[in-house]
Amino acid sequence: MNTRELQDEIIRLKKENDICILAHAYTSHDVWEVADYVGDSFGLSQQAAAASNKTIIMCGVRFMAETVKILSPDKKVILAAPEAGCPMADQIDAISLRKMKEENPGYKAVCYINTTSELKTECDVCVTSSSAPEIIKKLDSDKILFVPDCNLGGWIQNQLPEKEFKMMKGGCPTHLRATKADVEIAKEKHPNALLLVHPECRQEVTEMADYAGSTTGIMNYAKKSDATEFIIGTENSIVQHLQFECPDKKFYPLSKDLVCSNMKLTTLGDVYNCVRDCGGEEIELPENVMAGAKRCIDEMIRLGE
Ligand code: 13P
Ligand code: SF4
Repeated sequence: MNTRELQDEIIRLKKENDICILAHAYTSHDVWEVADYVGDSFGLSQQAAAASNKTIIMCGVRFMAETVKILSPDKKVILAAPEAGCPMADQIDAISLRKMKEENPGYKAVCYINTTSELKTECDVCVTSSSAPEIIKKLDSDKILFVPDCNLGGWIQNQLPEKEFKMMKGGCPTHLRATKADVEIAKEKHPNALLLVHPECRQEVTEMADYAGSTTGIMNYAKKSDATEFIIGTENSIVQHLQFECPDKKFYPLSKDLVCSNMKLTTLGDVYNCVRDCGGEEIELPENVMAGAKRCIDEMIRLGE
């Protein structure tokens, strides 16, 4: 089968078997084309709660599939590429966070959604990059313990000077590859382009940007802007997707190195095996983890409304 035939077969089988396919925007374009919904972590969690199908296939990384399972416990949730994890999610475990909480009494523990479900059981609320400032602003505490991404944390802190933050030194290994020198080189090459970056980038990079926001935020900004050239400081799939959606505009990667290898693990072949019920990994979590992480994710949804 060629790519088109494989995609047609996936679309036929997902309809026949009442399957919903969710894909993070960092997955490859051929996977996007068979998905029912493509978006950032926040959008994916909303879709997970709303989907009516009996099976959900997640094309992305493990914490995303776990979030879907927690929000839709009665559904069969499959992670299309079982080896796809997020290295940042593994930077802190529940035991280390418990210790941090003991050392910082009176602080509300807030985690990025890019964490394990077990870690979420120890947190008051989780946030995504698009909802973080709004949610933390609404929290009934001025003292915030934020894990694991200190760059995202710093970006939130700048918007909420009334709150006191304590953070760990974690971060996304993909976005950390972008440097101030990359910005200087890209701006020299494309002097008329706007710089749009993800807040997982280093603070020195975010400070030089015309806009910082989540994956969906960046895409919406570029689509609505009157500008015609953009340097994109996030995972490089977004450059490709934007170029596809806005053929009259020009998009340049901030750095060729901004590729998340984990997000690229999901192939069309994996999705095909999943819709035939012979691939991927069905997500199952212990009951206490489901309940504890659900409390944390529900609080994100409640405060984000
Ligand atoms: P968003 O999906 O919130 O933009 O986060 C980016 C990311 O790194 C996902 O793993
Ligand atoms: Fe994790 Fe970064 Fe990859 Fe997102 S882009 S999955 S945060 S490593």
